[in-house]
Amino acid sequence: MEQIPHGSPDDPNPLRRLSLEQLRRRTSIKWREYPADVLPLWVAEMDVPLAGPVARAVTDAVAIGDTGYPSGTGYAEALASFASDRWGWDTIAVERTRLVPDVMLGIVEVLKLITDPGDTVVVNCPVYNPFYLFVEHMQRRVVEAPFDRRARIDPTALEEAFRQAVRDGRRAAYLLCSPHNPTGTVHTAAELAAVAALADRHGVRVVADEIHAPVVSRSARFVPYLTVPGGERGFSLMSASKAWNLAGLKAALAIAGPAAAGDLERMPPEVGHGPSHLGVIAHTAAYRDGGAWLDAVLDGLDDNRRLLGELLAKHLPGVRHLPGDGTYLAWLDFRSLGLGDDPSAVLVERARVALHPGPPFGTGGAGHARLNLATSPEVLTEAVRRIADAL
Ligand SMILES: Cc1ncc(COP(=O)(O)O)c(C=O)c1O
Repeated sequence: MEQIPHGSPDDPNPLRRLSLEQLRRRTSIKWREYPADVLPLWVAEMDVPLAGPVARAVTDAVAIGDTGYPSGTGYAEALASFASDRWGWDTIAVERTRLVPDVMLGIVEVLKLITDPGDTVVVNCPVYNPFYLFVEHMQRRVVEAPFDRRARIDPTALEEAFRQAVRDGRRAAYLLCSPHNPTGTVHTAAELAAVAALADRHGVRVVADEIHAPVVSRSARFVPYLTVPGGERGFSLMSASKAWNLAGLKAALAIAGPAAAGDLERMPPEVGHGPSHLGVIAHTAAYRDGGAWLDAVLDGLDDNRRLLGELLAKHLPGVRHLPGDGTYLAWLDFRSLGLGDDPSAVLVERARVALHPGPPFGTGGAGHARLNLATSPEVLTEAVRRIADAL
């Protein structure tokens, strides 16, 4: 496998800069979960070197021993400036943000502000598995609103879930994934405005996980939930961790819409003890100075999306894939190949390729697997070739 050709340290595409040999020196879960002969295309880590400005900021901090507790509003200011440049979102007010340890723990803390134990949290499915795990761990109930056949929000299913959620007069929240993991769905402004209207009508509060927001195809547009009409009562969770591959440098921001500011003020100060100062430094540098690097990654991902479409058509025509414009994840439907509920279990054994199992993504996950596109075209090609050969 280490024979797979790859780019060079100077390749303009960050996804082609590292060899498999270099990547295998990593000790993160992507590279340690499976034996060395398995190509790992499962968890959402990217096969890229750190963006130069991020590496410099962290190295400089380490050089002067700047490894204490975080302080200040630099992270929120850097995000506000990035959001204005990228999405024309000019209304992130620093005083309506809170530093949180990471996106999932930020979601937990926001849900604590607006729901009680026993209340319901609505999710679209299939969806990122920790949405179920964290919500159930905090004694809330998950109600699913399945996507439609085109992997888009189904307003009828959502309304039915909202009705169920507020039955008995209980408080309820809707945990929106935007863009959506695993399908890559990028919600339109019209879809999000319809969500806001529906949520308002039923008294459901919206919490938008927008961690994948910067990772959207060049041909599509991410719309921040808090910018749509009716979005003012909502919350957004943002972080540089997915787009700049910083999951190991923990930090994220909770952002309240103008009509939710009072709720966010009730978040206890100790929540802000969770994020790491080095994480805040890294994320701040990413938003502030990492735009050119991100653009190069987005170009590489667009190429990989096209390549995956061609590879599947040629080598695996039985696999159904509805390409999404967001995230670096591809949601593959193996049901016509008869590999059972969890095709990834068969593929890791027979093809020595690790995809993420589909069933943990909830209803709609059986017979599916999630492939991580944030790798080199060479590794992607080899992975599809191995799967085709094995089947
Ligand atoms: C939709 C979504 N939310 C949250 C996370 C995890 O973010 P964090 O590590 O900041 O909790 C991920 C990671 O892949 C994700 O895809």
